[in-house]
Amino acid sequence: MAHDNIKNSDSVVNSGESFVQRPPSESTRRTWLIACGATGGLAAVSTAVSFAVSMSPSERARSAGAPVEVDLSDIPPGGLKTVEWRGKPVWVIRRTPEMLESLKDIDSKLADPNSDRKQYPTPDYAKNQHRSIKPEISVVVGICSHLGCSPISKFVSGPSANLGDEWPGGFLCPCHGSTFDIAGRVFANKPAPDNLEVPRHMYLSDTKLIIGKDKNGEA
Ligand code: FES
Repeated sequence: MAHDNIKNSDSVVNSGESFVQRPPSESTRRTWLIACGATGGLAAVSTAVSFAVSMSPSERARSAGAPVEVDLSDIPPGGLKTVEWRGKPVWVIRRTPEMLESLKDIDSKLADPNSDRKQYPTPDYAKNQHRSIKPEISVVVGICSHLGCSPISKFVSGPSANLGDEWPGGFLCPCHGSTFDIAGRVFANKPAPDNLEVPRHMYLSDTKLIIGKDKNGEA
């Protein structure tokens, strides 16, 4: 299926348990990707930089804001794929039934369980418990709503020295301790004022996703 002005994503796939912190504040737009340090990540950077250099200034500007197409077929259950959209890391997670189960019965512990807050308005199709179109696929921007660090994945549920006795699995921001569930909803009484952003997105097929665009238009 052909789509104008949609670029293929630069991406890194991992198990969801080994992720690298993004420096706070104004890092270069590719720092988060370089920080991943994985062979695949570095290869992606090399490819992306070569691609960027080969484009004209106007092409680069258009590409920087363009929606990105994501292949979902290589994300295993419980896996997390990081793609770049507008210089931001976007996490695409294939959630397991256990992960989805962890989203139930925790509303009272969350600051905004229904995604009503407005710092990062949530698209209507993600205003649900799993914050996504398809329950098994999560799409969130991996930048903390407090001061912009990149949370780290803490997908293993259960008692944890840092996360308490009833940790359901999710994300921990290493900068000031905000925690998020596996749908990116922030827990109450944490510095982060809002849930992780859900970018506009839509499906082209069961294995193809577009970030930065939905049926209402581009973000
Ligand atoms: S930047 Fe995440 S808690 Fe402060």
